[in-house]
Amino acid sequence: MVVDPFAKGGLQDAEAVLRAHGVDAYFRAVEGWTDDGFAVLGGRTVVMAGSNDYLGLSRDPRVIAAAVEALGRYGASVSGSRPLNGTVDLHERLEARIAGFLGQEAAAVATTGFQANLALAAALGPGDVAFSDARNHASLIDGLRLGTGKILTYRHGDLDHLRRRLTTAPAEGRLIVTDGVFSMEGDVAPLRGLRDLADEFDAKLIVDSAHDLGVLGTRGAGLHEAAGLEDRADLITATFSKALGSTGGVIAGPAANVTRLRYNARSLVFSAGLPPASAAAALQALDILEAEPQRRERLRRLARLLHDGLRAIGLDTRPSTTPIVPVAFPDMAQAGAFWAGLTEAGVVVNLVGPPATSRAMLRVTLTAAHDEGHAERVIQAFTRVADRLRTPRAAQPLPPVEIS
Ligand SMILES: Cc1ncc(COP(=O)(O)O)c(C=O)c1O
Repeated sequence: MVVDPFAKGGLQDAEAVLRAHGVDAYFRAVEGWTDDGFAVLGGRTVVMAGSNDYLGLSRDPRVIAAAVEALGRYGASVSGSRPLNGTVDLHERLEARIAGFLGQEAAAVATTGFQANLALAAALGPGDVAFSDARNHASLIDGLRLGTGKILTYRHGDLDHLRRRLTTAPAEGRLIVTDGVFSMEGDVAPLRGLRDLADEFDAKLIVDSAHDLGVLGTRGAGLHEAAGLEDRADLITATFSKALGSTGGVIAGPAANVTRLRYNARSLVFSAGLPPASAAAALQALDILEAEPQRRERLRRLARLLHDGLRAIGLDTRPSTTPIVPVAFPDMAQAGAFWAGLTEAGVVVNLVGPPATSRAMLRVTLTAAHDEGHAERVIQAFTRVADRLRTPRAAQPLPPVEIS
């Protein structure tokens, strides 16, 4: 039997199941934005409650102006890899700026956050073992898979299980690898416990701060800042495509670690450098992030409203304590029906499910580009759709969660 190598499961299978239920949830094109925080999709004005533009910077006029200026000065592409002709002075400024912001000695900019995580391959050699949280982002998993060492998964956030794994697995070098804030369910990694285990077992701790950069910490510098551990980081990876409203990725940490990966990681060496417009946008966004803490406060306020509003009508948003608000469903068909009802009501959220997540879910996010009125519309839409579909809910309103 000849097998079509292209015909392999994944999102396409999930989409086929949803389509059979009349739900068309993926690859829907945004046609534009209104000035008051609404998106235009399929000719309709909707609340986009699925974006990772946490601080609302991707359409900030200052960010756009910086990108336009860089486009005029450097062109649309660097037309080569970073070690050869593809480094511009903007990359160097951005690396110094973001290292300082994260409280790290050095940083190296990658073309995407995914590629920043693929760089981990260079740190996982023969004889080494990576201990990877079971719910880590696909890019961390793929980075480790490209390495030549062994990967052992530990149960999500379970420090006891990780300890057992560290105790029993023989290894030359050890890496502990985790998301900072988990991308789909919005819970926060137990960083202090992970750090202590890393120290005890002489392991390096690698934290992907994609969803906590700009969101957690008094300065917005992420999970290490929030936990008071900036001076004990081994490697932080992050993306510019979320709170920084741009595109690109970064690895940051002690200079020796960053330099090794800058020279050895194939995803950093063998790919064209970050487009100058994206570097300039990220640099400008960092300035705004620092100068305008009210954006982070608004993000937290809206997150609290969303969690409280959904929990008040008996929809559970655990385990999240962050602006990523998950609502779980028994299966994709029910999550899809709810998603379609929300879309009909003018609220677009993200419909996600296994294997990307542990369960069928709607992932809801509001950003600093939204206000209380948007939050109200989202909660009202959830209430109406839950009533109409008779969605199973807690009998009593659920108590508020403490936002991280
Ligand atoms: C936790 C995490 N890491 C890395 C990435 C990849 O970032 P980028 O979009 O810059 O490739 C994402 C994006 O979805 C993410 O959620």
